[in-house]
Order: sequence, then C-alpha cells, then structure tokens
Amino acid sequence: MKKKMQKLLSENEEKISQNSESIFKIGDKEISTTIKELGRKKTERIIVDEIEKKLDTEYIGQEIYCFQEVDSTNNVAKFLAESGTNEGTIIIAETQTKGKGSRGKKWESPLGGIWLSIILRPDISPSKAPLITLATGVAVTNVLRNLGVDARIKWPNDILINDKKVSGILTEANAKFNTVDYVIVGIGIDSNLNIENLPSRIQPGSTSLKKELKTDIDESQVIANFLHEFEKIYNLFKEEKFDDILYYWRSLAHTIGNNVEIQQTLGKKIKGYAVGINRKGALILEKHDGTLIKVISGECIVQDND
Ligand code: BTN
Repeated sequence: MKKKMQKLLSENEEKISQNSESIFKIGDKEISTTIKELGRKKTERIIVDEIEKKLDTEYIGQEIYCFQEVDSTNNVAKFLAESGTNEGTIIIAETQTKGKGSRGKKWESPLGGIWLSIILRPDISPSKAPLITLATGVAVTNVLRNLGVDARIKWPNDILINDKKVSGILTEANAKFNTVDYVIVGIGIDSNLNIENLPSRIQPGSTSLKKELKTDIDESQVIANFLHEFEKIYNLFKEEKFDDILYYWRSLAHTIGNNVEIQQTLGKKIKGYAVGINRKGALILEKHDGTLIKVISGECIVQDND
C-alpha cells in the first residue's frame, strides 16, 4: 500500500512541487500529510469548495480530498485510514486507473463519474459489515430517486434504473481480533458519464443519470445530498437499528419477489425465488422444491417471472 501511495505521489510530483527522491524518503505520516495537501488542490470537474458550501452534515465529509486521478479511491482511503485519519473523511477522484468492483472485478472509472470512498470506524463486530453496504445502497438510491429517476437496489450492491446499472458499492473492512479497525465504503455513480466511454461489453447493461434525465448533473449537489443521506442511515447503523435499515432496503429492492440466479465463484449457480433478506444482509431464496436457502454473496441475475 505504501508503495502505491508513493507511486501516486511521485506521479503527481509536479503538482505538489516536490521531487520524487524526497517523496521516497518520507514516512507514512508525511505521505499521508502530502496526500491530503494534494487532495486539497483544485480539481477541474469536481470542486470540493462547492460540495462544502452545500454540505450540512455533522461528521461525514468534514474532511474531503479530491484528486484528478488515483488508482482507486478505496486504496487511498485505506492508506489514510491506516495512518489514523478521522471517521467520515471522503476521498474523491475524477478518474481511477484501477477502480475496484465487487468480486475482484475492474470498475471502469472514466471522466464523468463520481468515484468516492468514505472512511468509517464503527464499533461493531465484523459480521455486521455487510449491513453497511445495504445502508449505503439505501442512501444512494434515495438521492437518485430525489432527482426524479426510478432507482432500485439489486442485491447486494447494485443500483439500477430501468434494469440498467447506474451505481455500485464496494465495502472493504479491516478487522483485528473480531473488532473492526476501519471500514472503507466505495461508491461509484455514473453521473455525467457518456456510456460510449465504457467498454462495449458493459454498455448495454449500464446507464448514467445524465442519460436518464437528459440533462447535465450537478455533481457537487449529488455528493452533498449523498453525504447527508449517508450520515442519517449510518447513524441508524451505529445505534444498531438494523431492522430500520432492512425495512428501508426492502422498500427499495428490485430483487425481492423475482426469480433470480446467483452466480458464485468457480461457476456455481443457484436458482430460486427471492423472498427476502435476513438481518445479516443474506439473500433468502425459495428453491423449486420449496426449501429456503440463504446466500451470502454472488452476482444476482434477475430472471423473467413467467
Ligand atoms: C461494484 O458494483 O462492482 C462495486 C463498484 C464500486 C466502485 C467504487 S468507485 C469508488 C471506489 N473505488 C474503487 O476502486 N471502487 C469503488
């Protein structure tokens, strides 16, 4: 991780007016200070000052760092979390060279999207971490619906508009001795993205807010609204009001009440009728023989209900 950060810094050395030799001599604390300095420099599309003007949160987004390009905002967030950065800190990038998707997939992150990570330090057992993904899904979906689109959540972490993906969430938890040290929640939103700038294989299943609403999206407003919604639902999570989160998730779910196929690693596929999710965020499927099974992870394909 340190190497990656050093690379990020050396690649941006002109912007921070340091030469790479001096960067390679400094330690983690100094690297994190330098990353923060770099993250406060003005970027072209996403303007931190604009987000801050619109922000009304108590602790989510009190520190925001925005970069023109990083490998992955989740990686930068992890590095800063390791060096003691506060809960609620936000890392944003205009593009990512190695954006990470769920199940080890690449997340395409060209110019025109919101690529954002949040550092969290919840006092919870690691088994509760999947609920943070569900809570984040609710926050993103509420923000998108308030813009006027019919956004819904496909278990566990995709936000869809008219069956096309507009946003995804990747939660990475760092646990030590059955307690959580920090959690990084990464959110990608296709805001002003031109779908043609995505690889052709994912274009048919993707959409953007600009495409759906036929207008340019004010990204600083979307980010400020999201941080507001996120703080509300994350407070419920910290108060252990898990049933409330699940209630909101279910009311926005695209998956429940459909026949689905779950594609897992090593080609394993499970088919069934999605009846709900349990308190740990697992999907409950009713198989053809009537038995109920719970699925913890996998890619969910919603099938035609005939
Ligand atoms: C998925 O649906 O597969 C999850 C996508 C998560 C993408 C976001 S973009 C910001 C953050 N940084 C990353 O590298 N990934 C997440």
